[in-house]
Amino acid sequence: MESPPLPTEVISYILSFLHAPDRKEASLVCRSWYTASQDHHFQKNVTFKFPVSSSSLEFIRALAGRPPCGLVISHLDGSSLSRQVLEEVGAHLGPRLESLALPGSSVTESSLLNLLPQLSGLRKLSLKGLDSLFMSGAFLSREEHRKKVQLALKNLEELDLSDLRYLSDLSFNRLTSCTPRLHHLSLAGCHIAFEFDPYRGSPVGSGSSALVSLRNLLNLLQNQALSLQSLDLSGTSITPESLRSIARTPSLHLQQLSLRGCKELTDSSMETLCRYQCGLKMLELSGCVELTSRTLVAVGLQLKELKVLRLSCDWKVTDKALSEVMGLRQLKTLDLSECVHVSGVEMVKGLSGPPPRAQLESLNLRNCMYIRDSVVFSLAQLLGTSLRELDLSSCVYLTDLSVRAIASFLPALLLLRLACCRNISDWGLLGMLEPTDPCQPSDEGEEKGPSFTRTFGNMGFFQPPSLPFQEKPRLVTAEHLQAFRGQEGASLLALRGLQTLDLTACARITDASLTQVLRFPELQRLSLSMLPEISDASLLSIARHCRSLRSLVLSHCSQISDQGLAQALPLLRRLQHLNLSYCDGITNRTLSIIALHCERLQTLDVSMCKGITERQLDFLPSHLHFLERIHFRGTEQPSIL
Ligand SMILES: *[C@@H]1O[C@H](CO)[C@@H](O)[C@H](O)[C@H]1NC(C)=O
Ligand SMILES: *[C@@H]1O[C@H](CO)[C@@H](O)[C@H](O)[C@H]1NC(C)=O
Ligand SMILES: *[C@@H]1O[C@H](CO)[C@@H](O)[C@H](O)[C@H]1NC(C)=O
Ligand SMILES: *[C@@H]1O[C@H](CO)[C@@H](O)[C@H](O)[C@H]1NC(C)=O
Repeated sequence: MESPPLPTEVISYILSFLHAPDRKEASLVCRSWYTASQDHHFQKNVTFKFPVSSSSLEFIRALAGRPPCGLVISHLDGSSLSRQVLEEVGAHLGPRLESLALPGSSVTESSLLNLLPQLSGLRKLSLKGLDSLFMSGAFLSREEHRKKVQLALKNLEELDLSDLRYLSDLSFNRLTSCTPRLHHLSLAGCHIAFEFDPYRGSPVGSGSSALVSLRNLLNLLQNQALSLQSLDLSGTSITPESLRSIARTPSLHLQQLSLRGCKELTDSSMETLCRYQCGLKMLELSGCVELTSRTLVAVGLQLKELKVLRLSCDWKVTDKALSEVMGLRQLKTLDLSECVHVSGVEMVKGLSGPPPRAQLESLNLRNCMYIRDSVVFSLAQLLGTSLRELDLSSCVYLTDLSVRAIASFLPALLLLRLACCRNISDWGLLGMLEPTDPCQPSDEGEEKGPSFTRTFGNMGFFQPPSLPFQEKPRLVTAEHLQAFRGQEGASLLALRGLQTLDLTACARITDASLTQVLRFPELQRLSLSMLPEISDASLLSIARHCRSLRSLVLSHCSQISDQGLAQALPLLRRLQHLNLSYCDGITNRTLSIIALHCERLQTLDVSMCKGITERQLDFLPSHLHFLERIHFRGTEQPSIL
């Protein structure tokens, strides 16, 4: 007897255990699964993103009956189609629209002024880069318009005014007078006059019509101090004195502050900031090139609530004070990429000291060339199961030992980047010891063998652990690989949940390890670019074992062939981005295979493939409906479809 169909609610409940991308796939299986996947429960907080086109109209109309959502519509202009699209948004979504962004657009004042009064449920509005609105200086100049917009936007929480060349005090004040309770304000990349005072000391009146001044900004911060939590002034020419004034605004208690690329800021202004804004949870200081470890001292002492700290490209930052920063109990994300003087030793010290200690979830040490195996080993042990993301790209001194430490102690990793760690080999990925050369004298052998015993002894923090790989055979033979297959000790296989893996330019890696350890059912992004040794065997094994792949980079892998891709691509049903640039082994046969099997493909890079000519690409767009871009040759301008 046939069992009755499951009720939709039950299927929905089952689907709730899947990740969003898996659920999307499942919804395509049959009608009842599709219906179940449309459950309102799954449709919360959804943002739809698309360029304006004639099909947008129909799409927006179809959103009418659905739960509240957000829209990111790009490439709007002054055309009647663009106007119509905005009209439909007002008519069909109206108060149910939660967020709106119009990137890469040039909308007219009138079409936006028609729309805004209808969006009474709006929480987030991005006018980033919409110079067309502000050029004339007349946006919202009429009282009647302001009143209507005010009524609709009185609950707006986030306002993004970044990259606006023509923003002035006048237009800024008109707009923010409609949004009295902002939580987040972005003025990133705007020309703000921090030093020059257009009012020469007299009170700010109706405002300058030419530029945004510090005094005017301070005015707003004061007026909305009670609600404002987050400020983005990245890429502005903010001066140390201006930062101090902002930090001292009465009643302002910022939780997030972005100052990326503010090159003039000094340590002493940071000290003032940390003293007055000690509730900060996120501080972005990447590219603030004048800052030194003095800033870190202030951060470590004052910002006890800090969760996210970004210091990328702050070249004067050294190890000093990183141990204090590691004492911030709440700290989850630390970005030290390109801080070339950091060796990590002080981090290890801080993390192994008395509590409180940070429980990092994301650590970026890209291009910190002084990082050694011993530090990675200690960090891996100390951070253990809390760490989700680790970027060690271009830490060129790392060897297989680091890989084994990562595989042994960081089982919860979702993202691992080891690009350009050129000394990493198959042995590390397999979790085995590289055999010492029997012909060499024994002291040379010690260099390569378990030399970490000595290295770690020197660190003084930890005893060398007894790792499973110490018992592993010393020569990789077919027999050993067979025995190894079922084991998951300290090989890369242990990172079961991995979603992103970057092994670019780890040129010693070959099929021997990749065919054994790249078995990650959740893997979505993989780069094996510049691995000259790998062949179709790796590709095929990956296709069999990493079925969730969405992005695959194989550039400069000259052994990959048409035959390999013909077998692999049909298995990678979710592939959206494929990079085969500089693959000399492929021809237009691969293009036919892509056309046949890569239905979801959005970008394809076949630049500098000797076996492919531009004309052979012409037929692809008609087969691949999601294709957005084909990159071909070294031409600077990608061909846009
Ligand atoms: C909605 O999604 C954004 C980004 O995906 C996230 O930051 C935000 O916390 C979500 N809001 C809610 C209420 O879930
Ligand atoms: C890589 O290993 C070789 C030999 O073991 C060594 O000579 C070389 O210095 C190492 N390279 C780096 C960048 O550590
Ligand atoms: C493909 O890979 C090459 C080399 O790694 C890179 O330069 C290029 O930007 C990539 N293409 C795309 C579309 O990302
Ligand atoms: C590949 O290109 C050549 C020459 O342009 C053509 O003769 C051949 O039919 C093409 N093969 C495929 C599979 O498209």
